Amino acid sequence: MVTPDEADDLAAVHAQAFAKPWDAEAFAELLAGPGVFGFVAAKDAPQGLILCRAAADELEILTVAVAPDARRRGVAKALMTAAIAAARAAGSSQAFLEVAVDNMEAVGLYAGLGFRRSGVRRAYYDRGPDGQIDALVMRLDLAASNA
Ligand SMILES: CC(C)(COP(=O)(O)OP(=O)(O)OC[C@H]1O[C@@H](n2cnc3c(N)ncnc32)[C@H](O)[C@@H]1OP(=O)(O)O)[C@@H](O)C(=O)NCCC(=O)NCCS
Repeated sequence: MVTPDEADDLAAVHAQAFAKPWDAEAFAELLAGPGVFGFVAAKDAPQGLILCRAAADELEILTVAVAPDARRRGVAKALMTAAIAAARAAGSSQAFLEVAVDNMEAVGLYAGLGFRRSGVRRAYYDRGPDGQIDALVMRLDLAASNA
């Protein structure tokens, strides 16, 4: 499991995956919060990350990202599976996340793990000059899934 010492690595991967990345300070603060945990995938250098929050019996996926040159090799799927296993062991029964409606890579990743659409948050993400975009809320029943 990732520790606050790895905040720089988390920020470095995040910056390769998002237009508005979280910096090392933001990761360190998040990791100090209750129920927050994550994993880093590394091969020589950090390649991918997942950060989650467990609250009551729910797991929230806060972010998942893989460096462009490491994509389509199962890194994100392995990170999601590790987070789900940790949450299940800690007593979570549901997992949920938000994802931009046009993020087909991520929607494909989540759907492949068994997440299903449970709602829409209108104008959830602000893309600056490109305007706002809706988020899908996706949920997975951990008791009923093999992920
Ligand atoms: C989404 C992301 C994390 C996927 O990482 P990845 O390591 O390439 O994903 P995986 O190799 O584990 O792929 C698992 C599944 O996701 C889906 N998927 C991943 N990339 C895809 C793509 N480019 N097109 C379609 N489906 C894709 C597929 O179902 C894939 O399974 P398959 O390879 O057996 O077909 C990565 O593209 C990324 O970092 N994107 C930018 C950040 C982001 O959008 N994060 C999610 C925010 S909610």
